[in-house]
Amino acid sequence: MRIAVIGSGYVGLVSAACFAEIGHDVIAVDNNNAKIELLESGGVPIHEEFLPALLTRNHRNRLQYSTSITEAVKKADVVFITVGTPPSATGEADLSYVEAAASEIAQAIDVRKIVVEKSTVPVRTCDWLRRSLVLNGADHEMFSVASNPEFLREGTAVRDFLYPDRIVIGVDDSLSSAALQAIYEPLTSGRYYKQSGVIPPPSDTAILKAKIIVTNAKSAEFIKHASNAFLAMKISFANAVANVAECVGADISQVCAGVGSDSRIGPRFLNAGIGYGGSCFPKDVQAFHAVANSCGYRFGLLDEVMKINLEQRRYFLDKIRGALWTIRGKKLAVLGLAFKGETDDVRESPAIEIIKSLIAEGAQIRAFDPVATKNAKELLPSEGIFYEENPYSAATGSDALLILTEWREFASLDLRKLRHLLKYPIVIDGRNLYDPCEVAKAGLIYYSVGRAVAAPTGTAHELADIGDRKPKNSSLAHSFVSA
Ligand code: UDX
Repeated sequence: MRIAVIGSGYVGLVSAACFAEIGHDVIAVDNNNAKIELLESGGVPIHEEFLPALLTRNHRNRLQYSTSITEAVKKADVVFITVGTPPSATGEADLSYVEAAASEIAQAIDVRKIVVEKSTVPVRTCDWLRRSLVLNGADHEMFSVASNPEFLREGTAVRDFLYPDRIVIGVDDSLSSAALQAIYEPLTSGRYYKQSGVIPPPSDTAILKAKIIVTNAKSAEFIKHASNAFLAMKISFANAVANVAECVGADISQVCAGVGSDSRIGPRFLNAGIGYGGSCFPKDVQAFHAVANSCGYRFGLLDEVMKINLEQRRYFLDKIRGALWTIRGKKLAVLGLAFKGETDDVRESPAIEIIKSLIAEGAQIRAFDPVATKNAKELLPSEGIFYEENPYSAATGSDALLILTEWREFASLDLRKLRHLLKYPIVIDGRNLYDPCEVAKAGLIYYSVGRAVAAPTGTAHELADIGDRKPKNSSLAHSFVSA
């Protein structure tokens, strides 16, 4: 199949590379000349595992780049729209990039094409897309519109695409249904997985065939929003439970392991921390809420999901204040700037907001992130922050170490070395990466989310006890363990 992918951001570039990988001829388009030049010269604009390998082995073979929508549409049978849909001031998704792409696509349609929306868009976008294509000059007999929402996560995007839990296609006519099923056939038949040299599956479990769900366009659009809203709700639920667990002396990690063992609930997306961020959850929950509003339904549950998420950062700042007493003039080592581990994306990153608040309170930040520093510099103030080469240089002479992103490498730090480098033995972990007793055994006082403070055996009560946030309306003392 000949495919055009309009928009080479995270979703677009990964999709283009993966479509080429499973055997299609693909043109990836972006209106950013510099990005296309970088791709043409073998560069990779985003940090994503396996993407460099896919781009290298498919470029000039089955994968081409272009800045021209017209050229790409003319050469393709199926056109995927993967442009950005950022939140507008009202919380609704801003679909102006989708509309602009539709207008250019319309003018390039010469023979019958299938136009597929893959960006996260609100329900009824397919209807608007059809209307926009006609308004911009496309004959309504010359195109079909379909929805094919993407569920890939940044950091694991290539594997998520090639080894999906499900592929959802929303089609309102048999032509688009056949075309989209043909595009994904290498995955749904299992043919791709039998080839040698393919991208390895996420775990040892071999996937034989990917599952495909064929529905109508509106339901497909809805599946995407409802899925992301549900996942965000799961995280906010875990965070809310963590806040109570901390007060009563329960351990949120053990609570969530117990809760998640119920197969009706499942263990994933129950990690408490500093809240969700990124380009999808905050935007999609808001947009889903706005869709409900436009139907006259007040989706109050989503209001709470968003509220809990923002409060979680505030609680974490309270935790830092509780551990350090005053913030002004303190040197704080910060590990993690990205919105989650294994990505360079800092959009809506809770880490960025927490750092901004700490700088505003007079802290000096010494930050390290494996790959997100360049992007973070564009969002953070230039004063009050230094960027370090590694976690240990950040820790040297600092008053405390904060962990704000769940990078895998932050979960295996040399804790004893940190103990010697830090001025005060204080670690405040917003991602619960460690077993509290292990950190305490290394001589550090360890604050995490939804778990008791852990301190080395023999630590004076005064050192370990003051900082933990106490429940506001309760006489319960917080818990404290020694190791
Ligand atoms: C998400 C969806 O998972 C994906 O299906 C969709 O296509 C795009 O949006 P992504 O934004 O890349 O993917 O990241 P994800 O791994 O879902 O994490 C989102 C945020 O939630 C991150 O800030 C992460 O740190 C946070 N998170 C995730 C938690 O705080 N706890 C968890 O248990 C899981």
